[in-house]
Amino acid sequence: RQRQAIIAIDGPAGAGKSTVARQVANQLGLVYLDTGAMYRAITWLVLKNGIVLDDECAIAEDARCAIAELAHQCKIELTPSPNLQSPVGVWINDTDVTQEIRTIEVTSKVSAIAAQSEVRKALVKQQQSWGKRGGLVAEGRDIGTHVFPDAEVKIFLTASVGERARRRLQDFRKQGQPEVTLEQLEQDIAERDLKDSTRKVSPLKKAADAVEVQTDGLNASEVAAQIVDYYQKRLLPSHQKNND
Ligand code: CDP
Ligand code: CDP
Repeated sequence: RQRQAIIAIDGPAGAGKSTVARQVANQLGLVYLDTGAMYRAITWLVLKNGIVLDDECAIAEDARCAIAELAHQCKIELTPSPNLQSPVGVWINDTDVTQEIRTIEVTSKVSAIAAQSEVRKALVKQQQSWGKRGGLVAEGRDIGTHVFPDAEVKIFLTASVGERARRRLQDFRKQGQPEVTLEQLEQDIAERDLKDSTRKVSPLKKAADAVEVQTDGLNASEVAAQIVDYYQKRLLPSHQKNND
């Protein structure tokens, strides 16, 4: 094998991908790659540049070109999170946007930006170059289907919309943002699920060879333990023979 193993984790918003991926990476000594943070960073840059997205379903041609250019020319850097509870540090064109990319404004626009094929081309190329030597846990929507189709371990994390919205609500409350409502979060999550799974380029979908983990009623550590266990079983020498 030319490279170290890759674990691909895909699934809808709030399924626990980031939290679980960070724990798995930490336990196995692998690098954690949050691809959603990259789409969020581009979205932040698009909004910062005043590019208007009035009709999300049919972004005007000139805006489309401007977005493509930003995506191909920007420099994105991810820095490891300081602890298991914090998200990764995100820099775009030397600006720290770690906090800014998590706002409701960015969250509500990110799926429209992520549906642009040029944006995906630019980011997938970057992800694949970071992953060339393997040794990572990559998390997103198209990791097992498109970015790393030869990943040794593919996980599709799911949970009901209600459960995912409740998790997000808790996150917002912990961050001292009590004004966000459960209904708002359910709506945002359902809208993004629909956009992400129906778009033309690399829609959110379970890879044929992914293992689906339904996480309602499980905490993040329990889910991480299942994935570590599965990884270890798959990568034992006796199992490897069948896969090589
Ligand atoms: O954490 P959360 O599930 O809210 O979202 P995220 O993982 O930060 O991803 C934000 C958005 O980026 C998603 O809703 C997708 O529209 C897009 N995305 C994508 O298209 N492909 C990826 N590999 C990762 C994220
Ligand atoms: O990355 P994604 O949008 O899939 O979800 P996340 O941001 O990692 O998780 C959202 C919240 O759900 C976090 O506060 C987690 O601690 C919590 N949670 C989880 O991730 N997994 C569970 N099985 C249960 C709760």
